[in-house]
Amino acid sequence: MKQASLNAVCHPQIQSLLRSNKAKLQEWINGLGSPLHLVFPEMFQQNIVSFKQVLERHQVDYQLLFAKKANKARCFAAVCAQENIGIDVASVAEFELALAAGVSGADIGVSGPHKSEPLLRLAMAHNALIAIDSVNELSDLACLAAGAGQAQPVRILLRIRPQSQKKSRFGLAGSELEQALAFCLEWRRHIQLLGFSCHLSGYCTRQRGQAGHQLIDYIEQARQLGLGCDRINIGGGFAVSYLDSPDWRQSLDYEAFHADKAFGGFYPYHNPVAGADALHQVLLEENEQQLSLGRRLRELSLTVLLEPGRALLDQAGISLFSVQGCKPVSGTSDCHIATVSGMSFSLSEQWFNTEYLPSPLLISEQKDEEDALYKVAVAGNSCLDDDMLSWRFIAFEQYPKKQDVIAYINTAGYQMDSNESAFHSTEPPRKVAVMLTGDVITWQLDNQ
Ligand SMILES: Cc1ncc(COP(=O)(O)O)c(C=O)c1O
Repeated sequence: MKQASLNAVCHPQIQSLLRSNKAKLQEWINGLGSPLHLVFPEMFQQNIVSFKQVLERHQVDYQLLFAKKANKARCFAAVCAQENIGIDVASVAEFELALAAGVSGADIGVSGPHKSEPLLRLAMAHNALIAIDSVNELSDLACLAAGAGQAQPVRILLRIRPQSQKKSRFGLAGSELEQALAFCLEWRRHIQLLGFSCHLSGYCTRQRGQAGHQLIDYIEQARQLGLGCDRINIGGGFAVSYLDSPDWRQSLDYEAFHADKAFGGFYPYHNPVAGADALHQVLLEENEQQLSLGRRLRELSLTVLLEPGRALLDQAGISLFSVQGCKPVSGTSDCHIATVSGMSFSLSEQWFNTEYLPSPLLISEQKDEEDALYKVAVAGNSCLDDDMLSWRFIAFEQYPKKQDVIAYINTAGYQMDSNESAFHSTEPPRKVAVMLTGDVITWQLDNQ
């Protein structure tokens, strides 16, 4: 069995926190409950710096926006303000959190399909940059802006559905562009078209680069009409490498899943080119005239906007679940189910009919005498049969006991809180912002 292929990549400072501070983890859980999410704003900040370094190496004007939806913790929004980057929001609540963290309205990007009137009004009042999803939304916003009698026109981008995303429900099709541009010209007193945006599903750097070129072609088209566009937004979708091993998919052949559970697919857990390196690849991507995206951005004096969520959160959080008990699985000779305090709503992947594969760690105060391996699936404490955090039987060197802690690694990007629920009248789990640099670990409750 090759379970090592599914060992989670874990930053050395986080490894040392888990190894050397077991009593502290226990204290936090005793005081603040299980599950408990630890978030690491310094990791987030380092990722921002890596993205900035790549953009500066390519000598392009840029604006980074953190895709807020990827994690609700306040500490990440505060780091955005400190690092002078923007935030991409898709709701009134996210907008308010960005402002409260100290991000200026002009650095807030508003995305999402046909947005509500309160969100559009808030965005207009704070001079935010609104990505328009359809011709109908464009005309609604223009009427709203005209009615509001603002001195400044509303700043917008037109969100495009790139050729590689034909099945997406978001953005304008190429065939709708002419109509949208004519509308922007006609309504220029109320709306100011600054450029074009897109967001691609998947993680292909080539497709992202090509989409960037397509957006620049549209800029040239709009400029010919007299619209002074100067920026493109290529969205998020920079991969994270959760597993070191390129063989992780093959290793699944050796894995057993509770109730023979099968999944349609998994996140690409190993990515040789991830995060800021993926952005570097995107900027190197050439068009048919062999001009790289970076070069075209420089030569046309364009600003590139990016909205990474997951990649900025790489290694920026872990999720701790305390064990309530463990039992054998009937009908198997050596498999067990550990029930934890918490539910799989706090590990989102299950709710997309797939599984978070990086193996969690079992943290126990006492070491078992026996040298053995125990195959354990991890279940939530709800009354739902499907409430499993890990259907996979994970090999633990210890038998999980009451009060042991199961730690899922690298969960800040979407896993920990995008699907959380108050099912069974439980409070949503708490978060603690933990600072790891320095001699002493410091922490603060992050009341999202
Ligand atoms: C418009 C938009 N921007 C940015 C993102 C962030 O994507 P990621 O977290 O993969 O970087 C998303 C994710 O759905 C999105 O829809």
